[in-house]
Amino acid sequence: MNRPIGVFDTGIGGMTVLIELEKILAKEQYIYYADTKNNPYGDKSKEEIQELVDKHIAFFKEQAVKLVVIACNTASVVDIDQLREKYDLPIITVIDATLDAIREEDKNIAVIATQATIDSNKHKSMILEAFPDKKVYPIAAPRIAPIIEFENLSDDQAQNIVDDYIFPYRDKEIDSLILACTHFPIWQDHFSKALPQADLINPARNTARKVKDFLIKHDILCNQDKTDTREDIYFVSGDLEVFKEKLAKIFDKKEKNVRKG
Ligand code: DGL
Repeated sequence: MNRPIGVFDTGIGGMTVLIELEKILAKEQYIYYADTKNNPYGDKSKEEIQELVDKHIAFFKEQAVKLVVIACNTASVVDIDQLREKYDLPIITVIDATLDAIREEDKNIAVIATQATIDSNKHKSMILEAFPDKKVYPIAAPRIAPIIEFENLSDDQAQNIVDDYIFPYRDKEIDSLILACTHFPIWQDHFSKALPQADLINPARNTARKVKDFLIKHDILCNQDKTDTREDIYFVSGDLEVFKEKLAKIFDKKEKNVRKG
């Protein structure tokens, strides 16, 4: 089926998921929506986030997408089932794929995310329900996503910020650290340095796998090669130039199809 796949984030972070989708679903056309005007969602209430996400799903519906990927943990804490029903659209979130990325043998798991994601308690309760023996340490890191989105820090400055958040957990024998904000894999080297004994878990690859399995199961994979008429489109609610600069700088992508959305 040739209809596009919608990918949502509040900014550049969802690109960490799009890159994994493109690796295993290269023939698909993607419509990426970056709500940079309202970024960060991490300091918003659940009601505010629900309203924004609802609006974006309506937009994807208008674009006739066959599936929406919420490549943003913070946007995934709202009532997604209600939106699936309201818009009659399959929606796969990064949080849906997170359990698949957790390893049986890890005992102490830290989850680092935005304030709204941590406040939702979604990761902790989901992990403990599936693995009652694990110990989960939630870490709210409200400053990181907006910095990655809008600022250009030196490596040392970025490392200091990550170190400050991680410092209280250094002696907790953390086996794995879940990067539960799609912006965070962009700073993965800083997280690795801050907590060298822990393995980093980035659920992006599992999210892509979940999308592929869904498309196969429902027989809606696109089997035609990509052409000029099916190029990816990026819609950005905020400053187009800032977004384009980040795309080029972080992901080495020079996209021509970046539009005001
Ligand atoms: N990329 C988003 C996430 O995965 C967070 C950014 C924000 O706070 O808007 O949670």
